[in-house]
Amino acid sequence: MKHDTPHQTFQPGVLRGRVTVAGDKSISHRALMIAALARGRSEIRNLNRGADVAATRDAIVALGASVHEVDGVVYVSGGKLRSPEETIDARNSGTTVRLLMGLVAGSGLRARFDGDASLRRRPMERIAAPLRAMGAQVTTIEGRLPAVVEGVLRPSGGTFNLPLPSAQVKSSILLAHVSATSAVRITGDLYSRDHTERMLRLFGAKIEWNGREVTYHPSPLQAATLTVPSDLSAAAFFLVGAAITPGSDLVLERVGYNPSRTGVIDALKSMGADLTIENQQEIDGEPVADLHIRSSKLHGVTIEGDQVVRAIDEVPVLAVAAACAQGTTVIRGAGDLRAKESDRLKTIAELLTNCGIEVEELPDGLRIEGGGARSPQGVIATHDDHRIAMAAATLAAVAGPIEIDNARVVDISFPGFAALWKSVQT
Ligand code: S3P
Repeated sequence: MKHDTPHQTFQPGVLRGRVTVAGDKSISHRALMIAALARGRSEIRNLNRGADVAATRDAIVALGASVHEVDGVVYVSGGKLRSPEETIDARNSGTTVRLLMGLVAGSGLRARFDGDASLRRRPMERIAAPLRAMGAQVTTIEGRLPAVVEGVLRPSGGTFNLPLPSAQVKSSILLAHVSATSAVRITGDLYSRDHTERMLRLFGAKIEWNGREVTYHPSPLQAATLTVPSDLSAAAFFLVGAAITPGSDLVLERVGYNPSRTGVIDALKSMGADLTIENQQEIDGEPVADLHIRSSKLHGVTIEGDQVVRAIDEVPVLAVAAACAQGTTVIRGAGDLRAKESDRLKTIAELLTNCGIEVEELPDGLRIEGGGARSPQGVIATHDDHRIAMAAATLAAVAGPIEIDNARVVDISFPGFAALWKSVQT
């Protein structure tokens, strides 16, 4: 990624109209993986087209699933997986590697996993430890990639306590138990995203959860048909852009409105955003709604506890909203953001500081003094982090032109972001 990274400049401007953002990345990963485990041919519509989900798609093919596409519908035939000869390269995608390590661990398979320089820096012990506890052999390089997983067939169930409220850890444990001989119970959650639970249910599993714990009774999975909702994490840039840019009025269509993801909506509403939820419905087990946002004056708030877990990927863009709000915003309990695609507490603080905002980096959060963002002097470093790039684009809507050092990094989750952004900007 380092060799060829054209810069891009985002401009100020009002956001108006209707927009449909990319398919949900988290749900897309799970749809592919669970379809690979299920017997029969599944049909997936509106799959996310980003590089992370492409890494999962290639990985399930390496694991023996067959995938083909006709007219935008992705067909996955699963149920007969094998150990791949080649290393599974998860590239930049934490969800790919962490969930697939679980899937391999519980399917009696053996696989070697690796990723790009950013993924090699990210912690994998949180996955390796529970998988070892269920009987798999997992080797890592001091808790980092590359890793080798040698699985067990038909593991016994049992109780696992999450070391942190992470959907990736929870999902890895669940996917490690699809062939288990008895129930698995997972405790220690704090409303982390429940897409794996919902997807397993859609594919026929008996599973219950309440935001704090999950109980899964494994039985064979059957192929399913589903349409992936638009990604609230992608919509969040448009929501904040419209909220902070006077004169904006935007509708985001058919966006995932799962309560384990709506921390960003709660936070924006508590800051004074003019946001209404329309056409609520459930599609293939996931809540979906249209989000209508108009610009308004925002004020600072404190964001902590389960609200942070439910908005974990939206902290960069919520920090942009805070920078444009009146008063102080404090974000706490977000220490795990230091272990994302970049150290997001550091990279957000750097972005906002460069745009004239007073920011204090806390060990587990940020204190942001709102008001008066301006165009930065030089080029903004994205640190090859897609969400930092899109947060910078969002801030440019009011602060003035912002040039980023890597126009391509948004392709991780949202190819076409810049064109779509421009199409609603006047
Ligand atoms: C994800 C879970 C979150 C999130 C990531 C996607 C998922 O990570 O930050 O972008 O799809 O399960 P953690 O489980 O590490 O919090």
